[in-house]
Amino acid sequence: MEIIIKPDYNEVCEETAGIIHRAWQKKNALVLGLPTGQTPLGLYERLISFYNEGKIDFSSVTTFNVDEYLGLEKTHPQSFAFYMDNHFFRHINIKRENTHFLSGKPENIEEHCRAYEAEIRRVGGIDIQVLGIGVNGHIAFNEPSSSLASRTRLEMLTQESIKANAHFFKHEKDVPRFCLTMGVGTFLESKMILLLASGKDKAKAVASAVEGPVSVSNPASALQLHPQAKFIIDEEAAAKLSRKDYYRWKHENREKSLDFLKK
Ligand code: PGA
Repeated sequence: MEIIIKPDYNEVCEETAGIIHRAWQKKNALVLGLPTGQTPLGLYERLISFYNEGKIDFSSVTTFNVDEYLGLEKTHPQSFAFYMDNHFFRHINIKRENTHFLSGKPENIEEHCRAYEAEIRRVGGIDIQVLGIGVNGHIAFNEPSSSLASRTRLEMLTQESIKANAHFFKHEKDVPRFCLTMGVGTFLESKMILLLASGKDKAKAVASAVEGPVSVSNPASALQLHPQAKFIIDEEAAAKLSRKDYYRWKHENREKSLDFLKK
């Protein structure tokens, strides 16, 4: 795993946008897995700036959102489909038919989830899966106890997640209790995973994901099994990592080690 520690949230977003930009330069028809929440907002702002500056063109890009609340129409202001449109898609030239969402009102949940996975396979898989992390270690809505082999499915929110998302709603009781989410096993099939974290509230979950055992108690720990997983985190989110200095040194010297071989 690569642990990239940045001084602050802005630089976390800058670094992540840079990785996506470089990947797009190599493959314009990039397939992205995208999250919602507070953390990716700055990333979407950077990518919109890149688009406005003519550095990136989204016309061949395909996206898959990682989760959706069950029961909400995509026009509901708290639905993740609405969030994506509001914070990202309406500001760029992505083709709507290339953006994919789990439905909050599927006719048949199992069929819908199977079709979502089939669509990911049909486009050749996800090139870059961007993820946030919950205070309890969840990735998307794979809450603690989610199988590390889990696929896209119905999941139930924990009390921590209901609390954490309550500020988006009028009352905590309005937060949906059920959702559809891509699975941990689905994420592990992506070619690259970028997990973003910012702030001291995430420090415990990040430390146990990176340095704890691989366990369903912290679903983000499953990223230890992925050969191309990067944690891009700020100082506050890195605060509880015991090998912080080594990760920093390793990241800074990665390029130098390649130069050394060339000599
Ligand atoms: P946040 O949520 O970005 O709003 O902190 C992250 C998550 O729960 O995955």
